[in-house]
Amino acid sequence: MADTALAFAKINLSLDVLGRREDGYHLLKMVMQSVSLADQITLTASDSQRIHVETNLHYLPTGENNLAARAARHYWAATGQPPQGLHVKIQKKIPVCAGLAGGSTDGAAVLRLLNQQAKDPISPEKLREISEKIGADVPYCVMGGTALAEGTGEILTPLAPLPDCHILLCKPKFSQPTPELFARIDKVKIRHRPDTDGMVTAIEAGDLEGVARRLFNVFEEALQPRHHKTVQEIKSTMIDAGALGASMSGSGPTVLGIFTSEAGAMDCHARLSGQYPDTFLTRPV
Ligand code: C5P
Repeated sequence: MADTALAFAKINLSLDVLGRREDGYHLLKMVMQSVSLADQITLTASDSQRIHVETNLHYLPTGENNLAARAARHYWAATGQPPQGLHVKIQKKIPVCAGLAGGSTDGAAVLRLLNQQAKDPISPEKLREISEKIGADVPYCVMGGTALAEGTGEILTPLAPLPDCHILLCKPKFSQPTPELFARIDKVKIRHRPDTDGMVTAIEAGDLEGVARRLFNVFEEALQPRHHKTVQEIKSTMIDAGALGASMSGSGPTVLGIFTSEAGAMDCHARLSGQYPDTFLTRPV
């Protein structure tokens, strides 16, 4: 029997890098939000004794180094089950290497589906422990919604849902490998930081303007100058089109803009999508 789930993309409403651990991982403080842009994950048991991942993007890994396969392995190991044959079909809509946690959210959806199918499901806490081993954004993706993430991303505090709005995503044509940007941020002096506490207060108060005013990502300063310019241009286009605020998501390069007016967001989508085909109109989920 096949089971299907949506794997929602993640955006950062704010992102701050507080320091670097001895193992090279960074300590972060981020406000995360899931949005309606989603991949579709379908799990089907197979008798092949292996995990096969099928996606509509030919360049993605189909074997064990796909995060979806790693998630299944970790789930079985942690729950004491023998490895099984599994076919994972991923209909990808979330752009890859975009700062939208596309791979992490697919892995998280596999964990949730396997746990739903289990006769004896494990607790959310145990599921979070497993997800930490798969990737820094996976614990958040298992939970979804609006949350404050600290530590390396694994210390999560759920927040009030973001007021309904229209969130436009626009991915410039370059890709920004996450480890490279972390290496660059170690070399720049961070001059401005997000007001994370103010952002959390605004979220709890349902103050969308207060949230939009505080959108901020320290990684923007670490981009190469030509990439920085592209990101700033997209942000300006969104603000000119009536966005309450705009910022880059995660390690980029996707830019997000928050709109109250659907017509304004649609108009801006029309303006950007000619030049940037990976432009999506979404809502918070
Ligand atoms: O955990 P994940 O595989 O998603 O992270 C990708 C890369 O991002 C890591 O290899 C590391 O270089 C960097 N990273 C980091 N600190 C974090 C999360 C990710 O340095 N908190």
